[in-house]
This record gives sequence, C-alpha cells and structure tokens, in this order.
Amino acid sequence: MDININDIDTVRLNDAGDAIEIIDQTLLPERIEVLSLADQHDIWHAINLLQVRGAPAIGITAGFALYLAAREIGGEMMCDSPDHVIKESFFKKLAEAKDYLNSSRPTAVNLSWALNRVEKVAKDRGDDGRKCDCIKIKEIIELMKKEALDIYNEDIEVCRKIGEYALTLVKKGDGLITHCNAGKLATVRFGTATSVMYLGKEMGYDFKVYCDETRPLLQGARLTAFELASSGMDVTLLCDNMSASLMKSGRINAAFVGCDRVAANGDTANKIGTSMLALAAKRNNVPFYVCAPTSTIDMSTPSGKDIVIEQRGGDEVTSMWYKHPMAPKGINVYNPSFDVTEADLITGIITEKGIIKAPFEKGLEALF
Ligand code: MRU
Repeated sequence: MDININDIDTVRLNDAGDAIEIIDQTLLPERIEVLSLADQHDIWHAINLLQVRGAPAIGITAGFALYLAAREIGGEMMCDSPDHVIKESFFKKLAEAKDYLNSSRPTAVNLSWALNRVEKVAKDRGDDGRKCDCIKIKEIIELMKKEALDIYNEDIEVCRKIGEYALTLVKKGDGLITHCNAGKLATVRFGTATSVMYLGKEMGYDFKVYCDETRPLLQGARLTAFELASSGMDVTLLCDNMSASLMKSGRINAAFVGCDRVAANGDTANKIGTSMLALAAKRNNVPFYVCAPTSTIDMSTPSGKDIVIEQRGGDEVTSMWYKHPMAPKGINVYNPSFDVTEADLITGIITEKGIIKAPFEKGLEALF
C-alpha cells in the first residue's frame, strides 16, 4: 500500500512513550521511512544530520528528547525509598543532557525554547521546598512528558492559526512562492508558510504555488514540492536563481516563508537564499510575509547581526546529489545554512496571535 507523506506525523512520541518516531527526511522523496529513536545521542545526530529539521520540528523533537533523557537518568539513580531519586545529581545530569541536545544545531531558537520549557516543569516540581534530598521521579517524568506533548499539540493549532491569518492576505487564484521547507515536514502537520496553501486548498482558493529548490540541500525540491504535490496541490518547482524572473513575469502575488529565529527588531534568519527572495520581492512589489510561531521569536536577540548562522560542510555544494563531483577538488566553499532578511524587506510577520507590521519592535514586544 502506498503511504502518503501527509498521513504521517513528522515527529511523534510512540504509544508506549518510550521513543520518538520521525520521518527520515534525508531519504525523501525517494523513500518514506520512519525511524524510532530513544537515546539522546541518536536524537542529537538525527537533528544534526537533518533527518528531522525545520525550526518547530526541531523544538518538538528536543522536548521529547529531554523527557526521554530524564527517564534514563532517573532509572539510573534510585535512592533508598522506591520511586525516589537523588535531587541534585538528577538535575545536574538533566542540565548536561539539555546542553548537549541544545548543541545539535545553532540557529533555530525553537530548540532551546522547547528544552527550557521541558526542563522548567521538572525544576519547578523539584523546587518544592521540601528538605528531603530525594525527588519523586515518576511525577517529574510525567510532568515532562506532558509538557513535551503540549508543545507537540500546540504546534498543530499554532500552524492552523498562522494559516488562517495568512488567508486574509490573499485571494482566489493567487500565485504564491515559498522557499526551503516551512511545511508539514518542518512542523507536525500544516507547516507555517504552507498552512495558507493547505487551508486555501480545502476552501477552493486554487492557488498556483511555486517553490524554490533551495540549494544546496534541496529542501524545496525534495520536501516542499513533494509534500504539496502529494496533497494534490498545483505546485511548480524552480531553481533559486529563477525567482526574480518569475516575479517580473507577474505570476507571483505574495511570498510566504518560514523562519528559524526572529530578532526583537524584526530581522529574520531563515534558510540561505531567503534574503535574495525578499530583495527580489521588494523590487517587484510582491508582498513578503514571514510566518513565525511565537516560539521562533527571540526577544533576547536584539537584531539579525546577533543571530548565530550555522556553517555547513563544503561537500553539500560540491558533490552531494551529483554522481560525479561538480567542482574542482579541494576548492574553497562558502556554505552558510541561513541568512538574515532585514526587517525593512518584510511586509508582515504572521504569528498565531495575529499579523505584525512595521515598526516590528513594538508589535513583537506586545506579543509577550
Ligand atoms: O536547515 P533546515 O532545513 O532545518 O532549515 C529550515 C528552514 O529554514 C525553515 O524555513 C525554517 O526552519 C522554518 S520551518 C517552519
């Protein structure tokens, strides 16, 4: 039986609650394979290798990973009374697991956001003022599991809301362009930038969707084109260097992209090439919208200059995807994985709480 990618969650906790299941995105679109992972090192590698990727999905995965790490740590540390563990060493090991998981990728703020949330419920329960050196582990782990599941469930609702707000900005028959994959495969279900497309499809909007292939890792071609086409959407693929020409032809009414971190001034880090698309949109009077769950907004980062941009290996540019290397052996490669789109190129930031327009500082601050 053929499996449709839209029928499987990108990431979920299994029914036994002892492992996560992720779609291995490095194999798409050729093969749909679900990996079951329980060990924090395996999950670290899955995030680092982009088997699971996209800011919200990274956060959800990390939240589950910290819960799974707590199960493991707690199991190793029983003290005299059954079901109790030594408080100090439990929290020390939990903090180590958190730091480790947080080091898997640098740019998407959802990673630390989710880890902090899941750690906080454990700490709050642990800081209950009791003198005893022990804590009841089952209770703490249940609280962490619930928090991680809340993050997962909230994502579905948040994405839907972003789509509903985005629908107010478009009309039937519009041509929409997107970059990278801010789709279902970067979240649990609807995606952020693609939510408007999925909801519009349900409501008969007949959008013509265009997606950039997104060099060098081809998230647009391998993932966005795949998931949208699998849902029966009218989707056309183009190389990244073709979007300006497409906009000039008048076929694009709006651009919707995702983001990995929005700074307090509205500057936004997203997949490399996003700022090029924003520049072309500005020149061609195409409104450029950033779809941002509040979990991706980082008010502690003042501007785009302060966002750490992941640098990745040169082989992604020179040889990956090619049967033979497509560049001279040993050539220097510039391969930043993200770029920053300055706030003045952004028409609006669409969150689950509403659409923010310039001046972004004020609007973003009001969200929190
Ligand atoms: O390197 P990736 O594939 O994790 O990059 C993903 C993106 O840049 C997405 O656009 C972003 O995370 C938003 S996902 C809703």
